[in-house]
Amino acid sequence: MTILWSADELAIATGGAFPRARFAASGVAIDSRGLAAGDLFVALHDARDGHEFVPDALRQGAAGALVSQDAGTGPALLVEDTQDALNRLGAFGRARSTARVAAVTGSVGKSTTKEMLRRIFMGFGATHAAEASFNNHIGVPLTLARLPADADYAVVEIGMNHPGEIAPLAAIARPHVAIVTSIAASHIGLMGSIEAIADEKAELLRGLLPGGTAVLPRGPHLARLARRAPDGAMIISFGTQELAEARLIEADSDAGGVSITASILNRIVRLRLAAPGTHMAMNAVAALAAATALGLDAEAAAAALDGFAPLAGRGAQRSLRIGDATITLLDESYNASGASIRAALDVLALHAGRHVVVLGDMLELGDYADDEHRDLAAPVAAVADLVFVCGEKMRLLADDLPAACASHWAPTSADLAPLVRGALRDGDVVLVKGSLGSRMRTIITFLEDAA
Ligand SMILES: Nc1ncnc2c1ncn2[C@@H]1O[C@H](COP(=O)(O)OP(=O)(O)OP(=O)(O)O)[C@@H](O)[C@H]1O
Ligand SMILES: [Mg+2]
Repeated sequence: MTILWSADELAIATGGAFPRARFAASGVAIDSRGLAAGDLFVALHDARDGHEFVPDALRQGAAGALVSQDAGTGPALLVEDTQDALNRLGAFGRARSTARVAAVTGSVGKSTTKEMLRRIFMGFGATHAAEASFNNHIGVPLTLARLPADADYAVVEIGMNHPGEIAPLAAIARPHVAIVTSIAASHIGLMGSIEAIADEKAELLRGLLPGGTAVLPRGPHLARLARRAPDGAMIISFGTQELAEARLIEADSDAGGVSITASILNRIVRLRLAAPGTHMAMNAVAALAAATALGLDAEAAAAALDGFAPLAGRGAQRSLRIGDATITLLDESYNASGASIRAALDVLALHAGRHVVVLGDMLELGDYADDEHRDLAAPVAAVADLVFVCGEKMRLLADDLPAACASHWAPTSADLAPLVRGALRDGDVVLVKGSLGSRMRTIITFLEDAA
């Protein structure tokens, strides 16, 4: 067992006390289900009170539990507030580390860019990044609490769906390089305006270490973003524009991927991703710019990134045989926003075959929801041969589709799945996309089970 947290460090970092035996930990867990032997189990108050799961965690081999109420038995570290203690563990884990740290925020593409950076950094040294999209008040400190003291590189994803969320997380992450992938209308419901979204993302820059670098999308919000950078920070803008310091010169997509030529701070690099789309190429340019900002060689970084494939639920493609039909499934069931649906439609258009578009509601759009859904009618109609939608908001999109575009609606994804299944023909290319809460994964599973 490699020790991640000694007993002394646990006590100093959290300010807590051991009521009984002291213990060290080889990892940190917040969920008794994913727990490994030797982990510190942190009992958070989330959907349920984590204190209920302490006995279970200890049975599974937890080294001890971080609690705010001591049960009187078992190894425990007692603190006043467990969320606060997790934040302090994250901050301490970050502070003791000598890793070069990249932090990623943005409206879309955070996890994809995080995975690109992981892949690049792994080409240069020991790299730590969360397995999942751990980007909130729990995921960010947890990622840093798990940072091995001897990692060379770390990548932290930082998200938000309400104002004020990013600043405290940026203060814990203290990145050497901060990346804003894009500014678009995701989660706009609680933010109010696109400018407010830009301002909130820019809060990440306030966490930059002295002499750090901000990698920002070149576009209408660049100045608004850049003015939050601390004095002396370097700004690298990325985009297709001539003025971008990290410039996408060419992105040549086909159904299997995209071949990229880019200029990263005046170094020309070429690479191919196994993930099609200009949006993927753009994420790659941002990731390469960030790697270069950390002193890595641009060409070596591009070589490390070459071959990158999309994540499960975010564009991963596979072929399924259902009955006597072989279809290509574009699994985008993990998430959806206007920007990412447009990007996915562009990818669908690259495929030969009948285009079947299956969409569920985009959530967290507040007053913008109706327009954001209706605005998709034209791009959907331009690509789709057959449309299946579910949810109240997607119904608005279906209503706005031209008659030539055959569409079907159902209240939920579970109701929609058999309709999709029944319509499939050999050679179809099927895009399935929606917000996580719209449960489009149900349709993926349904099709997989039919295969
Ligand atoms: N630059 C981009 N522009 C548009 N769409 C993108 C971009 N990058 C990724 N996407 C698409 O957006 C969706 C979400 O991608 P990803 O999980 O990387 O984003 P995220 O910002 O981490 O999302 P979340 O807020 O759920 O954590 C996927 O469908 C992905 O293919
Ligand atoms: Mg994510």
